[in-house]
Amino acid sequence: MKRHHSDPRLPRKLYIKTYGCQMNVYDSGRMADLLAPLGYEATDAPDGADLVILNTCHIREKAAEKVYSELGRLRPLKEEAAERGDQMLIAVAGCVAQAESQEMRRRAPVVDLIVGPQTYHRLPELVARAHRSTGAVLDTDFPAESKFDHLPETQAVEGPSAFLSVQEGCDKFCTFCVVPYTRGAEFSRPGEAVLTEARRLVGAGVREITLLGQNVNAYHGEGPDGRDWTLARLIRKLAEIDGLDRIRYTTSHPRDMDDDLIAAHGEVDALMPYLHLPVQSGSDTILKAMNRRHTADDYRRLIDRIRHARPDIAMSGDFIVGFPGESDADFADTLRLVTDVTYASAFSFKYSARPGTPASTAGQQVDDAVKSDRLAALQQILDAQQVAFNHATVGCQAPALFERIGRRPEQMVGRTPWLQAVYVEAPLQLLGQIAPVTLVEANAKSLTGILADTAGDTMQQPAEQVA
Ligand code: 5AD
Ligand code: SF4
Repeated sequence: MKRHHSDPRLPRKLYIKTYGCQMNVYDSGRMADLLAPLGYEATDAPDGADLVILNTCHIREKAAEKVYSELGRLRPLKEEAAERGDQMLIAVAGCVAQAESQEMRRRAPVVDLIVGPQTYHRLPELVARAHRSTGAVLDTDFPAESKFDHLPETQAVEGPSAFLSVQEGCDKFCTFCVVPYTRGAEFSRPGEAVLTEARRLVGAGVREITLLGQNVNAYHGEGPDGRDWTLARLIRKLAEIDGLDRIRYTTSHPRDMDDDLIAAHGEVDALMPYLHLPVQSGSDTILKAMNRRHTADDYRRLIDRIRHARPDIAMSGDFIVGFPGESDADFADTLRLVTDVTYASAFSFKYSARPGTPASTAGQQVDDAVKSDRLAALQQILDAQQVAFNHATVGCQAPALFERIGRRPEQMVGRTPWLQAVYVEAPLQLLGQIAPVTLVEANAKSLTGILADTAGDTMQQPAEQVA
């Protein structure tokens, strides 16, 4: 790392607060990497930081308001720094920055720089400019060049499981969603660049990689052979990397589950039996109004095909209740779909209008009390399904990847292939390693396991899922 020893204030302290999705967690890591050569070192509180970055998410309701109140809390810290003669730079990055840039410049003069998700590779330059300027520096373009070409080679690796961003943006335009507006059009990184980053991660001790993208199974990156690679192709190539034991990907659209990707679930050992495949609703009327471009039965058939390829796959999904126009009958269709599919885990949300999206101005907005009731009813079923899934794996022997040390002495926390957290008494040397575990007890959100006798170890699959 290049240090400018003439600058007495080095190292500088960097505080990043990350909101929202895994894509943002990944982006925050890369921002830290980008700023490391300028002498910025991560700190876990904003007090005394030289640079604070709020890496924001626009998906949730009142996302922008939360950012403004956080900025309000930062203001006195910035003023205290100024009284000491120090400069605390405040940056807002991510999707709120993209969506709100002009408004934010006006409303929050405390912000020194605003950088959209597509331009954060310019952070070092922007930070340097912000140090010199007054008035916020703004960079929220969708540039022709890709930020991925500008990211540094060195990437800090934390733990054996890493995220790798392969695709960004979305062309689907679901009528409730801001992503196509904030993250822009779909873009896929070239296959070779992904493989290179994956090899580097594995070289640094990573055993599991989760490929990230807003619509990751729409991946169509240029391959070294000059042809477009699909996600299935990319996964098959990644699986050839020695030492990369586990591959996952998130998040997907049902329309982009092609035959080869489904087949890969049955054929690629490293591809873990867990799939997050949001459906949002089980009503054809609502699916149409959401512009999802498939029916509930299309989704059911798709799940059948995926389970045919990989019978033990743990299904996960996203649901929205109270989308404009959703009737009791529409909601009942969602419950029916959930009962038919049976999920191992799921995320469910009350519909919230996002400014600028078509659904936000639709008539027939659903009453909040109705939304709350529907959410509670849905979550009750989904929670029961999760418990049932966890119980169905008790008695199985499965490889666990030990990700971190637990709270109790000699306890470690691992992940099963089905992405369940499993608590096991295990020696510290197993941290970052994969070892067979017998699952002995299921709780709502996790399992307890014991290290299995490695002699004659075979992985067993859980019995047919019980609904
Ligand atoms: N209201 C409620 N939930 C939403 N999601 C996205 N936009 C909205 C919205 N306007 C949910 C979807 C998506 C997940 C990431 O967030 O379920 O899959
Ligand atoms: Fe948003 Fe996902 Fe729909 Fe794209 S596919 S518009 S990211 S919900």
